[in-house]
Amino acid sequence: MGGSEFGMVVLDPFVGTGNFLLRVMQEIPRSRLAQKYGGELHCNEVMLLPYYIASMNIEHLFYELTGEYKPFEGICLVDTFELAKGRQMRLLVAENTERVLRQQAQDIFIIIGNPPYNVGQVNENDNNKNRRYEVVDKRVAESYAKGSAATNKNALSDAYVKAFRWASDRIGEEGVVAFVTNNGFVDGLAFDGMRKHLAQDFDAIYILDLGGNVRKNPRLSGTTHNVFGIQVGVSIAFLVRRKGEAGKRNAEIFYSTVGEEWRKEEKYSFLERAQDILQTIEERHRIEPNPKHTWLMEGLQSNFDEFLPMGSKDAKAGRGDEAIFANYSPGLQANRDVWVYNFSANMLRENVQLFIESYNGEVNRWHTRSDRQADLDSFVLADANKIKWSSNLKGYLRQHRFATFAEDKIRTSLYRPFTRQHLFFDEILNHRQGQWPSFFPTPETEQSNRVIWLKVGAAWPMFALMVDRIADLLPESGSQCFPLYTYDEDGGNRRDNITDWALQGFRAHYSDERIGKLDIFHYVYALLHHPAYRERYAANLRRDLPRLPFAPEFWPFARAGERLAHLHVHYEAQPEYPLQWIESPNAPLDWRAEKLRLSKDKTQLRYNDFLTLSGIPETAYAYRLGNRSALEWVIDQYQVSTDKRSGITNDPNRADDPQYIVRLIGQVITVSMETVEIVQGLGPLEG
Ligand SMILES: C[S@@+](CC[C@H](N)C(=O)[O-])C[C@H]1O[C@@H](n2cnc3c(N)ncnc32)[C@H](O)[C@@H]1O
Repeated sequence: MGGSEFGMVVLDPFVGTGNFLLRVMQEIPRSRLAQKYGGELHCNEVMLLPYYIASMNIEHLFYELTGEYKPFEGICLVDTFELAKGRQMRLLVAENTERVLRQQAQDIFIIIGNPPYNVGQVNENDNNKNRRYEVVDKRVAESYAKGSAATNKNALSDAYVKAFRWASDRIGEEGVVAFVTNNGFVDGLAFDGMRKHLAQDFDAIYILDLGGNVRKNPRLSGTTHNVFGIQVGVSIAFLVRRKGEAGKRNAEIFYSTVGEEWRKEEKYSFLERAQDILQTIEERHRIEPNPKHTWLMEGLQSNFDEFLPMGSKDAKAGRGDEAIFANYSPGLQANRDVWVYNFSANMLRENVQLFIESYNGEVNRWHTRSDRQADLDSFVLADANKIKWSSNLKGYLRQHRFATFAEDKIRTSLYRPFTRQHLFFDEILNHRQGQWPSFFPTPETEQSNRVIWLKVGAAWPMFALMVDRIADLLPESGSQCFPLYTYDEDGGNRRDNITDWALQGFRAHYSDERIGKLDIFHYVYALLHHPAYRERYAANLRRDLPRLPFAPEFWPFARAGERLAHLHVHYEAQPEYPLQWIESPNAPLDWRAEKLRLSKDKTQLRYNDFLTLSGIPETAYAYRLGNRSALEWVIDQYQVSTDKRSGITNDPNRADDPQYIVRLIGQVITVSMETVEIVQGLGPLEG
């Protein structure tokens, strides 16, 4: 962009303090700056302070470059996304409105900037949702969201996604959009539709991925490796549109990335040195998207798509049954874990009854309010000691639905691997129950039904755990759960969830009519543990639900799966691994655990002042579930914790069984050792 003839209108729609526009001005030949300054440089800012700072910075640079002071009339105090509406409200002062109208009338050739990015409010009680934008949100919904095959599209509500949509619509039949943003859209599951539309809306796309995603790579630190010192990855995108037929484009896509472990200083100097950044990117890597609009294919195995799908949206919707499981569901999404989960049933009862009292009080207050124009978000009680709102809960309030406490809604659940907690299972107090009311409608169904709890998504390595009760959604892109049976909500009418399609497929492939649906269920469970399967298809599993091959032999897998399932469901019945118990002579006998601490070499676990457990075998750590081993899940979960916002304490120590936790540690080590042994004994994946 530097140095070339510069007859084009430039807009930074999120100018902040103006750094980008200042760099652009420095590129403009002195002789032409005055002319441009007056009419072809524009920027917007929604916040007053950065607006003033940017004005001053830009006017000061103009003065430095020309020796002449001139007010910069290209800056507008305006919400850029509101401009999509076309019609304009009065904006503060007439002069500002005029500037906006002048900008609106311009054909913008270059949009450059660093849009804001955040996925939205952390807590509904805070009442600081991302603003809704009628036109831009609709454009995102009808293009990026509609074009996505993802289940969870929440990431598309991020402000930078709106910025791409807005800018793509704002530039004319030709132009350039250059944004520095979160790099999530380059590879994220929910962004397949966005990648599809970007490729249709532009003729060339250049991505320089500056990495630094600490969540994806815990070895990185935001302050050291991220160019902005933040937790999410950053990328620079140049989108080029040439004159041509709208929607008929098929962009050439070029992608380049810096070293994964580069420090931010190395990235800065790389950018400084890159004379022609587009050429640098072009030289690196031309991308041929696959039919799923995936851009980064590294590690993706094409034969994965030939395998049997564990689940599919079509099978789930009853459109055919070409999947192993007819139905599946995300884990239970509470959105108020501290209120509806607790190790203590009594504590849970107390918390839930307080919550219900607060909620019902608000239902009453809203439906008897005098000010009928009141805004619900600002009307409701926001006291985190009494309630935790979610969009669904506000929906029930609007419907005048009261919540009710009932003893039989208190169920035991798996909150995390090998972590049983009591759960208040209720349609109103749980944000999303998914299909759980038909998986475990009653405690009795926990005797016969089993569910494969699968960690999905890119954030953690995939894992599967067999459970016999309701399981949680899990953080970081969640989980999907596959039951053996489904029931009516009264617990009757049990149905197989393994499809006849799968049964016929397995029997035909192995020419073995003895194969039953339970055997297939166990076969699947074993195969999901197969180290070669996990390693070879890791990239595919980060993107899609598992698809499973026919291994050369069926029964060894089915039997191994059955053993693993029994071990994992009945982990509390396993013998304890023989650890040495080192009792401190200086502390009284005490089975209470506040916070368990592993020694540096992980061979010892300090249980409390009285007891240290020694002789933890290294192999136990080889049984990993996502980003932790089974034992480390217990160590992480079985600690006394108090939630800062609500003040709610969750104490895993059991008055009725004081040695439960110390026993559990030994049992989970046994489970880990046996799991590793069974998994290492699994046969080859291919003949
Ligand atoms: C990431 S910062 C940009 C920083 C900028 N590049 C700089 O050099 O300082 C994004 C800026 O966009 C502004 N902003 C956020 N949403 C906006 C909107 N809808 N319209 C206009 N400006 C917006 C924010 O106030 C913030 O100053």
